Amino acid sequence: MYIDATDLPRGGGYRMLVGSVMPRPIAWITSGTDPVNLAPFSAFTWVSVDPPMLGVTIQQRAVGGSRRDKDTLHNIRTTGEYVVNIADDMMLEQVHASSEGFTADVGEAEHLGLTLAPSVSVAVPRLAEVPVAMECRLDRIMRFSAVGGSFVVGTVVGWHVRDDVWGGDRIQYDRVHPIGRLAGPRYTRVGEIIELPPVPGG
Ligand SMILES: Cc1cc2nc3c(=O)[nH]c(=O)nc-3n(C[C@H](O)[C@H](O)[C@H](O)COP(=O)(O)O)c2cc1C
Repeated sequence: MYIDATDLPRGGGYRMLVGSVMPRPIAWITSGTDPVNLAPFSAFTWVSVDPPMLGVTIQQRAVGGSRRDKDTLHNIRTTGEYVVNIADDMMLEQVHASSEGFTADVGEAEHLGLTLAPSVSVAVPRLAEVPVAMECRLDRIMRFSAVGGSFVVGTVVGWHVRDDVWGGDRIQYDRVHPIGRLAGPRYTRVGEIIELPPVPGG
């Protein structure tokens, strides 16, 4: 089966991408301060290791017949600061519920019973319970198409790592228990961990 991307119907590109790029990690982003907005984004990766920089694709929201920017994008553009929180699998239902299209006056963290804690270098609070939270400063926003998405790139200015996952000089990968997103409202936990010998020059 070969699928020509130009033959896809409206929305078909999204469907093909979510089935092709998976499982995806989830950036659970806090932004703004009054109220603090919280939403999950799985079009998420890093784009530089030195300096450490993260990238997230934020699409527009369809409202009636028109489209508008999501609150997260609006807040990041306005304040230049945000926090990328990484949830563990015990928080899956709250991650999912935080994607509801609340109006901008609702603070999702408070609404879902999550605790906010102050950040060190940015004004936006982080989620207190998560294993890892990364304080970020906006570097640039690249809008690739009117509806397709804006790629938000930020520099990590500081990490908060929960004591039980901190291994002295690194995050212990087998203690984080991250969530992966598949297609639509379907998620996965980390299953078997397979360790292979390092490859020379790899
Ligand atoms: C697990 C998960 C991952 C999501 N990933 C994205 C994403 O990468 N990009 C996006 O635009 N929306 C994504 N969404 C939808 C947003 O979370 C949703 O539109 C949310 O209401 C945006 O909130 P905001 O308007 O407060 O920013 C995702 C939803 C879920 C449940």
